[in-house]
Amino acid sequence: MKTIINLIEDEMKKAFEDNGFDKKYGTVTISNRPDLCQYQCNGALPAAKEYKTAPMNIAGPIVDQLKSNPKFKEINAIAPGFINITISDEFLADYINDMKQEEGFGIEKEQNPKTIIIDYGGPNIAKPLHVGHMRSAIIGESIKRILRFMGNKVIGDAHLGDWGTQMGLVIAGLRMKQPDLVYFDESFEGEYPKEAPFTISELEEIYPAASEYSKSNPEFREEAKQITYLLQNGHKGYLALWNHILEVSVSDLKKVYERLNVSFDLWKKESDAQPYINDMVQYFKDNNYARISEGALVIDVKEETDTKEMPPCMVLKSDGATLYNTTDLATIVERMKLFDPDRIIYITDKRQELYFETIFRAARKTKLVNDNTILNFIGFGTMNGKDGKPFKTREGGVMRLEHLIQNVTDEVHTKIVENRNMDPEEAKEVAVKVGVAALKYGDLSNQVSKDYIFDVDRFTSFEGNTGPYILYTIVRIKSILAKYEEIGKKLPSDAVILPPSSSHEVNLMLEISKFSDVLYSAYEETAPNRICQYIYDLANALNSFYHETKIIAEEDERKQASWIIMIGLVLDVLQTCAYLIGIEAPERM
Ligand code: ARG
Repeated sequence: MKTIINLIEDEMKKAFEDNGFDKKYGTVTISNRPDLCQYQCNGALPAAKEYKTAPMNIAGPIVDQLKSNPKFKEINAIAPGFINITISDEFLADYINDMKQEEGFGIEKEQNPKTIIIDYGGPNIAKPLHVGHMRSAIIGESIKRILRFMGNKVIGDAHLGDWGTQMGLVIAGLRMKQPDLVYFDESFEGEYPKEAPFTISELEEIYPAASEYSKSNPEFREEAKQITYLLQNGHKGYLALWNHILEVSVSDLKKVYERLNVSFDLWKKESDAQPYINDMVQYFKDNNYARISEGALVIDVKEETDTKEMPPCMVLKSDGATLYNTTDLATIVERMKLFDPDRIIYITDKRQELYFETIFRAARKTKLVNDNTILNFIGFGTMNGKDGKPFKTREGGVMRLEHLIQNVTDEVHTKIVENRNMDPEEAKEVAVKVGVAALKYGDLSNQVSKDYIFDVDRFTSFEGNTGPYILYTIVRIKSILAKYEEIGKKLPSDAVILPPSSSHEVNLMLEISKFSDVLYSAYEETAPNRICQYIYDLANALNSFYHETKIIAEEDERKQASWIIMIGLVLDVLQTCAYLIGIEAPERM
């Protein structure tokens, strides 16, 4: 189904042509002066240059022709040559009725669906999740849902960090604490225990302590390095420990992601790319893609047009060790082999931008990907505290994600208990859903690349541009619909949405009608904030309409039925959008 702007544009373009002008000038946009009109066309201004005449000489006759068009209620040419458009009530209602009939509210899905991998987890095992991982997860989950909604085959990969030097540090740290563990006994021949020798909380204490200790103890650092090397070369005891770490971490990670409404299709790990490394390195050498620089193996990625410094991509260090780069390149090899994707999207902190640029160039140059495989990096900004600096705990440490979620949930819980009359059990459940929505919406309503300020009070407010406000609007519509049934009413089978009868209703319909345009832009720009902005506007329009209209007391049955259908449509649209940003409304709040 065409978007409402396209339909208006069709009329406008035809009028340009009928009057002897190129139809390309008939572009229509939403009005930037909503006090004057709903839509506008500014094409007469550039057209006047081409046709060497005054813009009013173009806009005038076009407007005269369109005045009798039933799609328009009002259309005017305003000096120096703007065309202001207000559409007719019937046309608007027709469009909304069509939206209601169509699957996906009339959205046109991707004609050539693509296979897309999104790499948006990146948690590191044995280390607690922090706020950076949260942004990646929240943004990635939403982008995954948007791409999927548009008809693509989308594979979300957690891409666990499980292979770096941190593993050596954790194992060395564990050895310091529990030197007698059988995993450290080189002469041990039997079966290792099935149970891990640590809990997740114990595990999470080991890494920071070991990391701190290694800074002032070079022998310990050496030992950790040696352990990493042995682990990566198949040391039995270390491998068994590593498997325990993996298991304990992953089951904990899954819990946190679940709380955030985030789920991955794949739980691949950096280590899964290891088997591809040797062949890949050989291939780089055989094809002269790589050269030796001070003992290290590197791929040059500098291009003539570069204005910034572009260091080469290091594949092997001078001691033969692999790096983060090596793993990412080998992961590309693996992904191409297993899924042959048309596009791979990476979502991390924007500080990794140069890194990914280097990886993408190296992958293209060495033809690890096809010429038309798209490699995208989406970098997000920092979540700051109220002081404008990266968000920290009160003690100045890194806030654990679980604690952050809990804080927001508690805040929501307090608000519910203070302002609502709800049974304690239900209040708890509601706070869990609303708390996550507050956190996620507070994040996603910002442009991805921008830094933002984490403000618990604002995020959890039931008013303003917040998650709770959106959910509250959903709950409110549900309760009006329930009321309609409660008073024994049923929609007549021939009921439709009637042309609007008040300015609030016009406004609400205009907001509803924007759905497809919003979704297309959210899709093209991979921008969840577009959806947030839209549902905020839609929720506002709904609430103004609701305050001005006595829906349940209305005596004209057809009118009442029309409103009920319309707010039902608003509910569906809001819930679809809520799904797309990964939040969910409770039954009551
Ligand atoms: N584990 C990494 C980190 O915590 C993020 C991984 C992002 N994805 C990737 N393919 N490099 O910074």
